[in-house]
Amino acid sequence: MDYKELVAEKIQKNINADLQLDFIEGLIEIPPRPEMGDYAFPCFQLAKALKKAPNIIAQELKDKIGKDYFEKIENKGAYLNFFVDRNIFIKNVITKILEQKDKYGSSSIGKDSNIVVEYSSPNIAKPFHVGHLFSTAIGNSLYKMMSFEGYNCTRINHLGDWGTQFGKLIVAYKKWCNEDELHKNPIKELLRIYVKFHKEAEKDPELNEEGRLHFKRLENGCREEVELWKKFKELSLREFKKVYDLLGVEFDSCAGESFYTDKMDAVIDEIDKKGLLVESNGAKVVMLDKYNMPPCIVKKSDGATIYATRDLAAAIYRKKTYNFSKCIYVVGMDQSLHFRQVFTTLKLMGKDWADSCVHAGFGLVRFADKKLSTRKGDVIFLEDLLNRSVQRTLEIIDEKNPKLENKLQVAQKVGIGAVIFTYLKNNRERDIVFDWNEMLNFEGETGPYVQYSYARGKSILRKAEYIDSQADYSKLNSKEEFELVKFLNNFRDSILNAINKLEPFMVTRYVIDVAKAFNKFYNAHSILNAEDEAIKFARLQLVKATCHVIKNGLNLLGIDVVEEM
Ligand code: ARG
Repeated sequence: MDYKELVAEKIQKNINADLQLDFIEGLIEIPPRPEMGDYAFPCFQLAKALKKAPNIIAQELKDKIGKDYFEKIENKGAYLNFFVDRNIFIKNVITKILEQKDKYGSSSIGKDSNIVVEYSSPNIAKPFHVGHLFSTAIGNSLYKMMSFEGYNCTRINHLGDWGTQFGKLIVAYKKWCNEDELHKNPIKELLRIYVKFHKEAEKDPELNEEGRLHFKRLENGCREEVELWKKFKELSLREFKKVYDLLGVEFDSCAGESFYTDKMDAVIDEIDKKGLLVESNGAKVVMLDKYNMPPCIVKKSDGATIYATRDLAAAIYRKKTYNFSKCIYVVGMDQSLHFRQVFTTLKLMGKDWADSCVHAGFGLVRFADKKLSTRKGDVIFLEDLLNRSVQRTLEIIDEKNPKLENKLQVAQKVGIGAVIFTYLKNNRERDIVFDWNEMLNFEGETGPYVQYSYARGKSILRKAEYIDSQADYSKLNSKEEFELVKFLNNFRDSILNAINKLEPFMVTRYVIDVAKAFNKFYNAHSILNAEDEAIKFARLQLVKATCHVIKNGLNLLGIDVVEEM
């Protein structure tokens, strides 16, 4: 049974208006303070339909609604406050979790919607850097949450594998590449020559011209250029795969920018036929001044296509292929204008589905005060960052629990989990400033803290000799127990909120809350040495339920749990 649904049903049954259950459910709030009840229903929005003042509606509802499952229902002003019958509530919530286990929190509400989630999308021949992890972590967890709620999701890695930079890279390769280094350490070598290219081009602008020429040749399918490009791509993908394997991230399609090379002419034609194509300084553009935006360039003066053209083609292709009801682009906020231009151009082309394309932007990632830029070469490689986190976690474990088995495996999960957690802890538009001590603190609001809470729960369950008695949930009557169960019950709500706002942090915060409530419960009450067997058994069931929820929650963030740490 879902309590929110129950409240909604009660209201629906007793209100003199034809209201959808979903609508009512959407209005129900979870009050911040216990004295305001466990659920609250504000009546403001019903005033118009019922032609009555909200406080009158609340008063009338209160008198009509049956109290079963609730200890009391109060009305305060325009609010109807529901106080659950704690005994029944605790029993229902725990039983449901123990029945549903890994499925607890899931649903099938998305079963009729196809969703495209585009994330990660690093650039070939360039480092997979800390900013790309932002996209990767958010996209991966949105994918997991939406799939968990039944949405039919397709994961796309829109690789940056096309563009004038490949012309430059080809020039750089021919002039300066060290083949040995390239095979030993592909991205570092490709980055070295790319950086060198930019330095040299400052002195000798001719190089840029050469680069453009080579990209043109690549677009025209000239053999030498295509072979080199393929080589860069294969080497890069091999490196990216290492990072994806560390993170446990996968994709359904890696159709990157190059995939659209043969699909762009049709798009430009269509734009032209709609009368939207304008010539500007030799380039072909779509004017967007009505929307207060610079024009969207679709073809440069040398005839080469650009980033935006490929995005137009990609959106149209995705709509045709996946018939999405939403296409989510998890890309940094520095590209906001680009996406507004692309979406507006689609709209002007008559694609009314353009409104279902959403840019889920995110902020910057900083270490102290260094801004990360590829061109100057001062990037932090993600693989190094992840490995460093694992290494440091290993040191902490060595200190705290030197006898632990499978130390390295545990450090892998905890170290990588800590990094992902840091990315998903705050709303995505907020910048991240990396701080090792904060990130790996076992006591703070961190990944390790939540993982540690889970491992602690599991260790209690391992130590418990299971007793063959019925759990008497009525014995779970302390404040801490009720608070914990309340949090456990809110899991699905936090997932749905995260999906609605495209904000995984809502689940991150949620698992922190559960871990905190669990620790409060654990510190206030004996579990293994409980007053009697029935209480002990009931508490053990609560521990077990908590572990399920933490595990499911962390998994939705793309983080593995460990049984011991
Ligand atoms: N490759 C780009 C970058 O690293 C991100 C691609 C974003 N996706 C898109 N459809 N334009 O900045």
